[in-house]
Amino acid sequence: MSIEVIEVSPHIVVPQAGSTVAGEVFRQLLQQAIRVADQANSQSVRMATDFAEVYRREQSVRLEYETKLREMRLLERQSTRYAEDLADMLRKERERREELETALESERIANEELRRTGLQGISHLLLAATIKDQTTGAHLLRVRKYVEAIGTRLGLPSQVVEEFGYSSVMHDVGKIHTPDHILQSEHHLSTEEFEVIKQHCIDGEVMLGDARFFETARAIAREHHERWDGRGYPDGKKGDGISLAARIVSVADVFDALTSKRPYKTAWSIEEGMAAVIAGSGAQFDPEVVAVFQSLQADGSIERVRQEVATAQLD
Ligand SMILES: [Fe+2]
Ligand SMILES: [Fe+2]
Repeated sequence: MSIEVIEVSPHIVVPQAGSTVAGEVFRQLLQQAIRVADQANSQSVRMATDFAEVYRREQSVRLEYETKLREMRLLERQSTRYAEDLADMLRKERERREELETALESERIANEELRRTGLQGISHLLLAATIKDQTTGAHLLRVRKYVEAIGTRLGLPSQVVEEFGYSSVMHDVGKIHTPDHILQSEHHLSTEEFEVIKQHCIDGEVMLGDARFFETARAIAREHHERWDGRGYPDGKKGDGISLAARIVSVADVFDALTSKRPYKTAWSIEEGMAAVIAGSGAQFDPEVVAVFQSLQADGSIERVRQEVATAQLD
């Protein structure tokens, strides 16, 4: 804001002493004074207006600043609340995860117990079979070991190999319903007798109930007499339609039956048994399983199983 300098006009006529124009001078002076007063007055009004304008601007800046400050405080409060909510959520999530881990651990322990109980039951079954008939016990033990060796060489995970092994022991569990005179018959079976024999696959599956632990055992009991070419029993399943576990058991079971002494036959040599299995590749047996079994014979694994079981019988 500028301040105007008010100057007395140089045109004022200064009166001489005793002059008659004193009235005129006074009038001019008066007019001059009025002009000066007017100028001063309008300058004051301008200054006041300017001040008012500055004040108004400052007010609006202050208001704006206060509004911004309020918004920032609100934002800060909201952020704090979000952070607290987030921390709370994370804490609850952690608690839930811990609960879940505890539950999973309990389930794992329960499953492990169930598994051990199941395995114990199977051992008892094997023992019972051995007590009743030494040859059956040895047969089941060899089949189990062949199955585990085949599974391992096929590259199956160790848990699956173990499951296939213990499940294979129950492949003929349904024979408990088959009359002894048919089981021990030294003659060719009649059609009716063969129908009774077939039933042991179905009975075995039913006897093994519906527990998850016996899922593979049920498949083996049902399918171990199925053939790769679909001409087996009881369902005439074919190829991959037969579970892998049953396809493996089929080879191990037949090979061991051929190489064991039975009431109606002498024991075949390993080479003779292997030749029969190879002859059945792609017809009775899964060719891949036969190839693996052959490799096990080639490196002496088959012979080793037979010796281990024979030694175990002597204990
Ligand atoms: Fe069988
Ligand atoms: Fe068998």
